[in-house]
Amino acid sequence: MQFTVAIDGPAAAGKGTVARAVADEFGFAHLDTGLLYRAVGAKAMMRGRGVIDAEIAEEIAKTLSEEDLTREGLRTARVAQAASKVAALPAVRAALLAFQKAFAKRKGGAVLDGRDIGTVICPEAEVKLYVTASDEVRAARRYAELKAKNPDTLLETVAMDLRQRDIRDASRDVAPMRASDDALLLDTSELSIDAAVAEAVALVKERFGKA
Ligand code: CDP
Repeated sequence: MQFTVAIDGPAAAGKGTVARAVADEFGFAHLDTGLLYRAVGAKAMMRGRGVIDAEIAEEIAKTLSEEDLTREGLRTARVAQAASKVAALPAVRAALLAFQKAFAKRKGGAVLDGRDIGTVICPEAEVKLYVTASDEVRAARRYAELKAKNPDTLLETVAMDLRQRDIRDASRDVAPMRASDDALLLDTSELSIDAAVAEAVALVKERFGKA
């Protein structure tokens, strides 16, 4: 059985939470594709001592390992910025394409969350969701997450990271962040996480029954 759920949306909109809950509910495998770009960005920053070199980033993307994905510190705003920069490089995206496409097609069902899943990685996904929330709500959520790990986190810095990334991610030439025409829009600004998950699960249930 093959069944793909594609979840896209801007930074900190709740994609990951919805994706994990859907995967748990239906026993599907889950891939957080942002983690791939975060891992490449973090390694490229380290190798370039704070500066990203496009060729080095490409080589890192081509040889990315499981271990790279489990390294500490991939969730910081600094790494998120690096991720967004390497994600705008066509060669980096190309190097990560086959793995993501194969994951989407794996037997037993798959949920992928990111920016280009419904548009580029799996345009034929059985379910497509575009999860959004207002800038203020997204900044507040990400601030709470990061503050719990690092008390020095500032709301304004978090808000700026999200703003900068959203602009870069939506305006890049290759695979820009956008909702696929056939995606269901899920605005979580005023929805509790449980309510957002319930909507997503209901949609998957409806389509899954027909698959
Ligand atoms: O968790 P958050 O929504 O803040 O970010 P993420 O999903 O971990 O993604 C980090 C960065 O990776 C994004 O800002 C994008 O630049 C990039 N990304 C992408 O270009 N395409 C994807 N499918 C997933 C992430």
